Amino acid sequence: MLNSLFGLVYLSAVSLLVSLTVCFAGIQAQCPVKLNPPRVVVEYGSSVSVDCITNITNDLMGWEANVGNKSMVTDKLITWSVSNLRQWDIRPQCYINYNRMPPCSTFLPVTVYKTPDSVSISTVEPLMKEYYQYEFHCDIVNVAPKKFTVKWFKGETNVDNETFNYTTKTPVNETSKFQFTAYRDDDGAQYRCEAELELGADGPQPPPIVTSKTYQITVRYRPKHEVTIELISTNDGDITLNCTVAANPPATYSWYSEHWTTSKNSSVLTFSTLTPGNYTCTATNLLGQSTKMFIITGERTTFWTILICGLVALALLFALYAIYKRCNFTQNSVI
Ligand SMILES: *[C@@H]1O[C@H](CO)[C@@H](O)[C@H](O)[C@H]1NC(C)=O
Repeated sequence: MLNSLFGLVYLSAVSLLVSLTVCFAGIQAQCPVKLNPPRVVVEYGSSVSVDCITNITNDLMGWEANVGNKSMVTDKLITWSVSNLRQWDIRPQCYINYNRMPPCSTFLPVTVYKTPDSVSISTVEPLMKEYYQYEFHCDIVNVAPKKFTVKWFKGETNVDNETFNYTTKTPVNETSKFQFTAYRDDDGAQYRCEAELELGADGPQPPPIVTSKTYQITVRYRPKHEVTIELISTNDGDITLNCTVAANPPATYSWYSEHWTTSKNSSVLTFSTLTPGNYTCTATNLLGQSTKMFIITGERTTFWTILICGLVALALLFALYAIYKRCNFTQNSVI
């Protein structure tokens, strides 16, 4: 009696151990099915087809998914296919039932993507001024998944990048911002942004890119002369006073000299002769002004005058010395 009770306890303990071992083994062992391809990247609205393959004789195998083929077979290959995929979040799995064990399954990772409906560049303040800070917005409409990089370009130079890397699978709208300080050299610069989907090695190569239109900026800046004083000799033939300076909007010019009575407003003046002296030009636009002075000298005339005067003085000195020497000699000889 006691013996048989002990035997029963022993038997149940062994069977529990065996069933536990089988159970854990079943969980740990990889499900003996292979997916081909093992993961897919599909464009929304396009078709997809994946094979589930096994080499095990089974009781049943099939696909479980919220869309597509669900048929069950007792074969070694079954295909899941959708001709027009219109689901953002799908988790198909291939399962197999064999050896009278609970069915096991393998998930197929699916990325459903959609290129943006539009990528547009804009700025709140289109009238830009030198040294001020501005911001561009890049609006990306209806893109999925939320895994993409927004690249900013100035001309052909990539000036900034922003990466969005979220698990959101449904289409989103997103805005990337780019700040910059406007300088005079940026006047006419062309900016654009691009949205590049991050779909990995399984995605289309090269990855889909949608580019915005080009935004050409206008930067307003005051005139600023690099050289503010210019020396000009009257002996170099025609005299050109060039006051031209870059400015946006373009500068207007005014001239001043005590030798002039009429006003002049051109950026370049040319003369065949000009009285030596100072001539001042002022370039002005709505942001400020810049002045340049031209000093006209009769440089060579002065040089020759000095030389001739010097020679005359020297000759005079020589003559005086000769006279003095002569006088001395006369006196000496008298004594
Ligand atoms: C994104 O923007 C578009 C157009 O402005 C709008 O129709 C759509 O509902 C927006 N989507 C989301 C997820 O906000």
